[in-house]
Amino acid sequence: MAENILICIAWPYANAEIHVGNIVGSHLPADIVARYYRLKGANVLVVSGSDSHGTPVTVRADAEGKTPLEVYERFHKHFIDLFVACGITYDLYTSTHTENHFKVSQDIFLRLLERGYLYTQVEKQWYSPEQSRFLPDRYVEGTCYICGYDGARGDQCDKCGNLLDATQLINPRAKGSTGALELRDTEHYYLDLAKSAPELSKWLHTGKEHWRSQVLNPSIAQVDSGDLRGRPITRDLVWGIPVPVEGWAEKGKCLYVWFEAVIGYLSATIEWGKNNGRPEAWKDWWYDPQAKIFNFIGKDNIPFHAVIWPAELLGIERLYEDDPTKRINLPYDVPANEFLNLEGQKISGSRNWAVWGLDFLSRYDPDALRYYLTAIMPESKDADWDWDEFVQHNNNELVATWGNLCNRVLAFTNKHWVGQVPEPGELTEADQALLAKIEAGFDRVGGLIEAVKLRAALEEVVALATEVNKYLDANGPWFQVKTDKAAAGRSIYVALRAIDSLKILFAPFLPFTSQRLHGFLGYDGRLAGEHKVVDYAESASSHIGLTYDATGVAARWAPSTLQGGHALRAPAPLFKKLEESVAAEERQRLGQS
Ligand code: MF3
Ligand code: ZN
Repeated sequence: MAENILICIAWPYANAEIHVGNIVGSHLPADIVARYYRLKGANVLVVSGSDSHGTPVTVRADAEGKTPLEVYERFHKHFIDLFVACGITYDLYTSTHTENHFKVSQDIFLRLLERGYLYTQVEKQWYSPEQSRFLPDRYVEGTCYICGYDGARGDQCDKCGNLLDATQLINPRAKGSTGALELRDTEHYYLDLAKSAPELSKWLHTGKEHWRSQVLNPSIAQVDSGDLRGRPITRDLVWGIPVPVEGWAEKGKCLYVWFEAVIGYLSATIEWGKNNGRPEAWKDWWYDPQAKIFNFIGKDNIPFHAVIWPAELLGIERLYEDDPTKRINLPYDVPANEFLNLEGQKISGSRNWAVWGLDFLSRYDPDALRYYLTAIMPESKDADWDWDEFVQHNNNELVATWGNLCNRVLAFTNKHWVGQVPEPGELTEADQALLAKIEAGFDRVGGLIEAVKLRAALEEVVALATEVNKYLDANGPWFQVKTDKAAAGRSIYVALRAIDSLKILFAPFLPFTSQRLHGFLGYDGRLAGEHKVVDYAESASSHIGLTYDATGVAARWAPSTLQGGHALRAPAPLFKKLEESVAAEERQRLGQS
């Protein structure tokens, strides 16, 4: 039986473009792991979608004089364009604004309610008599009661950085308005985290050796603090999913965006099954105790994925399933990445201190981006995007080490063996040693990818490419061809076979160039599936979505079996060398509006 692997990626807020920090935080590492498991023959599903509700989207809409729906739909389309351009292979990229997601979220709410995991509480909230509505914390501004800064937001002060209790703000006012506010009572549902604490603690303390310490330790500390408070999971808002309790929707109450967005991981697998005529398929990932669910996220999302979402899952115990022995699966790993800075400063969209994904890809190739981001991936500490370093990595490793290796071996074979893999004759010990090293790479690199140590995994593959270069330097087929063509042919055979293996080892990281190389090596067919943008306008989902079709893909995570006599095609350079001046040009753009 193939292993069931579910790859869940944080749902980006549909209120701003995606930058390289977002890509390296979750989408790219997830895609590398997904591509690897697909090559291994696992039953892989990759899901996510646009996080379309919540104040991030409404604030943007207000600022633009647009509706939240218009804002969400615009960014949702851009995200899909980016994922196609960057090769992020979602089996389903949907959104939280679908009928299916509304239904699953409301059903989970009701099941938690029925099982006693929710309670109501009355709290004070700022109310604007002028706008006759309660104001979300982000809509309230005033003087920070910690540092005295006058432009503090209800949820956070941008001056001193502290998270704030909005009710304590001094001189509160509605964002962009001056009218006085009143503190009024409002009733909300809370998720009873204290009730889940013992089970959460047991789960976090069992079999988590493979978790990153920066994810596990704070989560354990939070759960074991003895003070795990309930969290409000409803809001006074109209843009969102109505609270499915009589009278609540009428009072303008919605599910809190974080409560429902995490449910998207489950609802998206259900939607995928429906769209593919397999309505029960989602259970392969959610009820098979051997299935592995990965949650790829940035570090700011850790509590929601390592505590709150697991608490929701433990609370429901099971959904749309009558068998009382079944328990819905919790995440197997939550490999959160740290942050990516840019040229020594925090990435900031509003100051345009960012490298935007789509803009970058209008000038450079996706594999150059994937390579650099993986090489610096912030797996254990924050990393820094440096344009000089980008150019160096591209020129030294992609172009010089890997690209030139492929190009000169293929071109040389075309010239001296009329485009056919030479018959090797008997291999020497050195030949066999090189091929054995490369073969062993499949297990080593695979193990690192499964442990989500992607930086180290990529380093291993590059080191193997370097080994092939050394082997060729030692054997010198370029000169030997004049004196001993058979020996030169043997070395070239070994090099081609190594390159054919490296093509697979690189494929999760560099899918576009591995595919081209596959063609140069004389193969037809694809190493991976292809994206399809689907218009669901006629269906209940009423939006466009991105899907992935892998029918007919036969490539496997296994060493090459290339034989003498196999016909190659004419090669072309896989990577573009970049001018040193690129770094200065790109730095010029930063911070410009
Ligand atoms: N929209 C959130 C963000 O961009 C992430 C939500 S992840 C989810 O930070 F799981 F809650 F969907
Ligand atoms: Zn402050």
